[in-house]
Amino acid sequence: MLSALLPLAALLSPALGVIQPLNTTIYGPYGHVPAVYPSPNTTGLGWEAGLIKAKAFLAELNVTEKAWMVTGTPGPCIGNIVAIPRLGFSGLCLQDGPLAIRAVDYASVFPAGVSAAASFDRALIKERGVLMGEEFKAKGAHVALGPVAGPLGRSAYAGRNWEGFSPDPYLTGVAMEETIIGMQSNGLQACAKHWVAYEQETQRNPTFTESGLVLQESVSSNLDDRTMHELYMWPFANAVKAGVASVMCSYNRINGSYACENSKSQNGLLKEELGFQGYIMSDWGGTHSGLASIEGGLDMNMPGGVGEYGMYDQPLSYFGANITSAINNGSLDISRLDDMILRVMTPYFALGQDQDYPTVDPSSAVLNTFSPIDTYVDEWVLNGTSSRDVRADHHILIRKLGAAATVLLKNVDNALPLKAPKSIAVFGNDASEDTQGYYNQVDWEYGTIAVGGGSGTGRLTYLTTPLEAIKTKAKADGALVQQFLNNTLIATSNLTDLLIPTMPDVCLVFLKTYAEEGADRTSLDTDWNGNEVVASVAAYCNNTVVITHSSGINNLPFSSHENVTAILAAHYPGQESGNAIVDILYGDVNPSAKLPYTIANSVDDYNGLPITAVNSTDPYAWNAEFTEKLEIDYRYFDSKNMSVLYEFGFGLSYTTFSVADLTITSLANSTVTSTPPVEAVAPGGNPALWDYLYSVTVNLTNTGSVAGAEVPQLYLTFPDSAPSTPPKQLRGFEKVSLNATASETVEFKLMRRDLSYWDIVAQDWIIPTGAFGVSVGFSSRDIKLTGSMTVV
Ligand SMILES: *[C@@H]1O[C@H](CO)[C@@H](O)[C@H](O)[C@H]1NC(C)=O
Ligand SMILES: *[C@@H]1O[C@H](CO)[C@@H](O)[C@H](O)[C@H]1NC(C)=O
Ligand SMILES: *[C@@H]1O[C@H](CO)[C@@H](O)[C@H](O)[C@H]1NC(C)=O
Ligand SMILES: *[C@@H]1O[C@H](CO)[C@@H](O)[C@H](O)[C@H]1NC(C)=O
Ligand SMILES: *[C@@H]1O[C@H](CO)[C@@H](O)[C@H](O)[C@H]1NC(C)=O
Ligand SMILES: *[C@@H]1O[C@H](CO)[C@@H](O)[C@H](O)[C@H]1NC(C)=O
Ligand SMILES: *[C@@H]1O[C@H](CO)[C@@H](O)[C@H](O)[C@H]1NC(C)=O
Ligand SMILES: *[C@@H]1O[C@H](CO)[C@@H](O)[C@H](O)[C@H]1NC(C)=O
Ligand SMILES: *[C@@H]1O[C@H](CO)[C@@H](O)[C@H](O)[C@H]1NC(C)=O
Ligand SMILES: *[C@@H]1O[C@H](CO)[C@@H](O)[C@H](O)[C@H]1NC(C)=O
Ligand SMILES: *[C@@H]1O[C@H](CO)[C@@H](O)[C@H](O)[C@H]1NC(C)=O
Ligand SMILES: *[C@@H]1O[C@H](CO)[C@@H](O)[C@H](O)[C@H]1NC(C)=O
Repeated sequence: MLSALLPLAALLSPALGVIQPLNTTIYGPYGHVPAVYPSPNTTGLGWEAGLIKAKAFLAELNVTEKAWMVTGTPGPCIGNIVAIPRLGFSGLCLQDGPLAIRAVDYASVFPAGVSAAASFDRALIKERGVLMGEEFKAKGAHVALGPVAGPLGRSAYAGRNWEGFSPDPYLTGVAMEETIIGMQSNGLQACAKHWVAYEQETQRNPTFTESGLVLQESVSSNLDDRTMHELYMWPFANAVKAGVASVMCSYNRINGSYACENSKSQNGLLKEELGFQGYIMSDWGGTHSGLASIEGGLDMNMPGGVGEYGMYDQPLSYFGANITSAINNGSLDISRLDDMILRVMTPYFALGQDQDYPTVDPSSAVLNTFSPIDTYVDEWVLNGTSSRDVRADHHILIRKLGAAATVLLKNVDNALPLKAPKSIAVFGNDASEDTQGYYNQVDWEYGTIAVGGGSGTGRLTYLTTPLEAIKTKAKADGALVQQFLNNTLIATSNLTDLLIPTMPDVCLVFLKTYAEEGADRTSLDTDWNGNEVVASVAAYCNNTVVITHSSGINNLPFSSHENVTAILAAHYPGQESGNAIVDILYGDVNPSAKLPYTIANSVDDYNGLPITAVNSTDPYAWNAEFTEKLEIDYRYFDSKNMSVLYEFGFGLSYTTFSVADLTITSLANSTVTSTPPVEAVAPGGNPALWDYLYSVTVNLTNTGSVAGAEVPQLYLTFPDSAPSTPPKQLRGFEKVSLNATASETVEFKLMRRDLSYWDIVAQDWIIPTGAFGVSVGFSSRDIKLTGSMTVV
């Protein structure tokens, strides 16, 4: 549909960006992106009253104002759409990020996405969204730039995996849905990011010469259609289904074409197939053309200027005045610009943001170093109360979720929970205070890491450290607490010489792994010689408990050491870090978290490595070929039949559970067809994909002697009639709390999408013929019950 509907001159206009022809030799087996034009109009489905108001608003705008409505400007927030006072519109304030409102003071820092995922707890994930939503709104932000489903986690090394949830699309999809429903429940707009297949940081943006010419373009994620649907798009479908107001396009190219001008991904997949009715905004500096991006589906350019760096220093924009000229010279039809504005304003009105919305907290203007105040001060009325404390009692949920997200990986002879130890030694530079201040977490040598860095971090008002919380707790037992925080000293010392008078009852070793936007990890080891620290402590102390604060996957070479009696993966728990880990260590909270990824036996076992270098000076040389297709994380290890150290879904408890009585019941009202019934597309895609077709139940029993929570998990094995599919795929989980000896029936409902694969020929979700294997257990490899069902 490309040429018929779009003036060729417009596509090639030098001022507005050129769509590059693709070279299939360079772009590999998936070497082209089908063009999908025009960008579909919003129908406002689900937001009907908002659309009516948006149309009335649009009717009052002149062309200059229309251009402003879709072009960011400098302002007090991370992203800003300027006010139009004559229409009573006070502008839009867009703020980072996925775990906290970042560039403000007196806000909470919540557990990161990876922690939320590790909880496997829908209710807590949603509550996190609700409370974050309250804080953004109370600070006057209209749009929160989160949650994250891209990166999904193709590579263990990707620098931003912790901002998102899990490399399993089903788990991430549930987490996206719960988070968005929570965040938007009070009138905030969420932004699902980054669309799509954004799986590494290295070369995420083009490199430039000093004079600003492109040396090499961003890395291209080259992937096939089925992988796109079943992995990378999947959680975004949940986001759209949940009514997300906005989606952010990513920095990378997709099959050769920049995400923010990729008509297939934006017009085709997101707006047409998934029925997305809101707006697509660019990632900051992710726009590389004007008209080509607009026709390709981009609705809002952020932060508004050209280029990634110094973007506020100059007024140039691919949008802005370029849109006005494009309208005036006829190369852009006004109907497309009108649709962009309707997409922006419909969720605004639908969520009631025109009614008594809080003003922007002036503190954000001061803290937003990204947008210097002297570049815009006249445009913004910042007359609200400054430094409003929006934290309320959110520390309660943060502590609860921090503990609920801490995965117990090893626990020999009931080393944990601690039984009122009288002598405790605490080791590691992750145990105590940051020596250089909280603002933005950085991998300083000293200081516990509670969240990652970059735009997805949070600005801590306080941080409960592990050492501080342990001392508080141990005081009640009259215990001796000694601390050794210098990793170099610990790693290079014979601990007998370190003045420990007698063997402590327990040695707690705190290790950290930092990660941040803009860089991929270079190692899967813990930072600051963590392995050597453990080796040194465990050579001396026969009850060594290792706790990691980490962005995700770690190499754990000490896991089988006889003196390492317990290992806890505490991820990034947020501001209540110390209290949360003490709750687990002392058994006030029974661990119930599960690994949202796989820890391999060896670092050499991982696939999907980031591209770290290219040998060519070709501008299009950076290409990540997703040749593993569906086989990421456990899907890969299972299909290659490789043993792993700790598998996806694994996590121990202080009690034990059993499951029994697998039952499978059809919920269909009539014969199920392989192809979904054709229904009008609604947000989330064909509504028939979301119909529940089967119910699977099991009887879960707490067989131990203390109360606890378990996460029974359902995995499906597709019949052989489906094209090559990973051996097992998560399609259900539920976190269930049970008192000792209690039992409960747990239900998993399977929707049509869960039972289908994406057929690239039919261009539809197809339920394969033959028997599905149904497996229920306590991890992806601890299967307790199996059954089968034939759906079509
Ligand atoms: C495509 O790229 C290859 C490798 O760089 C080059 O040899 C070939 O000439 C290119 N083809 C076209 C049509 O530009
Ligand atoms: C969008 O709506 C306008 C006005 O109703 C119409 O002129 C235009 O053709 C529509 N565009 C598409 C892609 O349907
Ligand atoms: C459009 O509106 C703005 C004020 O919102 C005004 O400055 C500008 O002159 C108007 N342009 C036209 C062409 O009326
Ligand atoms: C329009 O966009 C181009 C980049 O393609 C830029 O060089 C030019 O300065 C922009 N014009 C304005 C008025 O911002
Ligand atoms: C703040 O400024 C807005 C816009 O000018 C105005 O409507 C409002 O009354 C002002 N509020 C206060 C408290 O001054
Ligand atoms: C940490 O220990 C090493 C090795 O003993 C020493 O060189 C270094 O100065 C110590 N650092 C601090 C901050 O004490
Ligand atoms: C540490 O020092 C003690 C006493 O000096 C000695 O007995 C022990 O063998 C040393 N341990 C190691 C691991 O070198
Ligand atoms: C375990 O700790 C004991 C001290 O209790 C020590 O003698 C032993 O060598 C340690 N084991 C290893 C493998 O380091
Ligand atoms: C650890 O060492 C202590 C003191 O040497 C000893 O009493 C205790 O039994 C040992 N524990 C284990 C698990 O070996
Ligand atoms: C670059 O070329 C060198 C020498 O031919 C080769 O060893 C290396 O693997 C190449 N690297 C990449 C990223 O292709
Ligand atoms: C079956 O019918 C019920 C009641 O009308 C409806 O809620 C449900 O969605 C239907 N299920 C399917 C799979 O169509
Ligand atoms: C679940 O299993 C427990 C333990 O075997 C049993 O007591 C209970 O009756 C079962 N519940 C159901 C609903 O079958």
